[in-house]
Amino acid sequence: MEHKLSDRAMLVKPSATLAITAKAKAMKAQGIDVIGFGAGEPDFDTPRHIKDAAKAAIDAGFTKYTPTPGIPELRAAIAEKLGRENGVNVTPEQVIVTAGGKQALYNTILALVNPKDQVLIPEPYWVSYVEMVNLAGGKPVIVKTTGFRPTAQKILAKINNKTKLLILCTASNPTGMLLTRDDIEAIAAVCKEKGIYVISDEIYEKLIYEGEHCSMASLPGMQDLVITINGVSKAYSMTGWRIGYAAGPKDIISAASRIQDHSTSGANSIAQKAALAAITGPQDEVARMKHEFKIRRDLICERLNRMRGVSIKKPQGAFYVFPNVSKLFNQKIPDSNALAAALLEEAKVAVVPGAAFGADKYIRMSYALSVENIIKGMDRMDEWIKKSYRTL
Ligand SMILES: Cc1ncc(COP(=O)(O)O)c(C=O)c1O
Repeated sequence: MEHKLSDRAMLVKPSATLAITAKAKAMKAQGIDVIGFGAGEPDFDTPRHIKDAAKAAIDAGFTKYTPTPGIPELRAAIAEKLGRENGVNVTPEQVIVTAGGKQALYNTILALVNPKDQVLIPEPYWVSYVEMVNLAGGKPVIVKTTGFRPTAQKILAKINNKTKLLILCTASNPTGMLLTRDDIEAIAAVCKEKGIYVISDEIYEKLIYEGEHCSMASLPGMQDLVITINGVSKAYSMTGWRIGYAAGPKDIISAASRIQDHSTSGANSIAQKAALAAITGPQDEVARMKHEFKIRRDLICERLNRMRGVSIKKPQGAFYVFPNVSKLFNQKIPDSNALAAALLEEAKVAVVPGAAFGADKYIRMSYALSVENIIKGMDRMDEWIKKSYRTL
């Protein structure tokens, strides 16, 4: 029997990233040796001192509801971190702790977006932005980029009297592109002039291999317009712990907290203690993981660069490459979905089709896997291309 789902539910597409990861996992469970470039999570274990903090929290009986916007010491630690590392000066009351960066984004979007409000999203975009805006009843407006960079001019061209919000992601998922301070200053100037709010998704901030991260909220006059999103998932290899946060103007954060009051309440108590240890404790594991990721990035870029029909822009951050594979399209494989399906079926390599990110000429490959597996996966892909495209 087909049930009468809400219009809202019908509008939401399943996450292509999670779908490809689930399919690759199912194939692995059947004994098929799949190399997964799909997952958006570090493959490292969570650092020991963070796990110890969680164990200590359990042993101390810290297992009850917490205040909706987070335990005071974690909110204070996040506010302190934002001031010290990012030049974003906020009080603990301007911080909300959430179940992952995803919930920070979703609550903020729900707090800001009215039905029919327009939300600017540069493409290629992270899959969930569009769906979150749709769920809030807003209208996603896609902004074209140049070399994966959204420019102030292109953003300005899309602004009208219905535009409420811009969502920026630096370093970017899916491209790994890092916005420079100049880029961010130019975009901030446009948003300030037009009174457009900005969600600045900085979840990959700790994984930048060249260049420097710049937080838009640190720029003069932007504190009132920018909501900074971050979390511990990617920096501390804590994807399953589900702790993220949003920081911004007090009334927006309070609204996000009221929304959280009636949906999920405070984030997991034990995970909050773990996140506190992550943010306030030693950072050498972060440096170690970043070093590993850089080695992998260089390796995968070097291999993809040499592959027929594939061209790449070397990313500066995150743990993704976003190669252009449109030269591999033909009658049998007309788009990125078909290419990802063929790579999975025939080469046993899992990648995410670029179409999911609004960029059908591309595929996204995560390099959050061992060097050995990257080499194995690259060998498979290379052989498959040589075999399938003899004339390229
Ligand atoms: C760009 C971006 N923002 C936010 C998130 C949310 O991360 P989490 O909810 O695991 O903290 C992700 C995770 O994939 C991401 O890639």
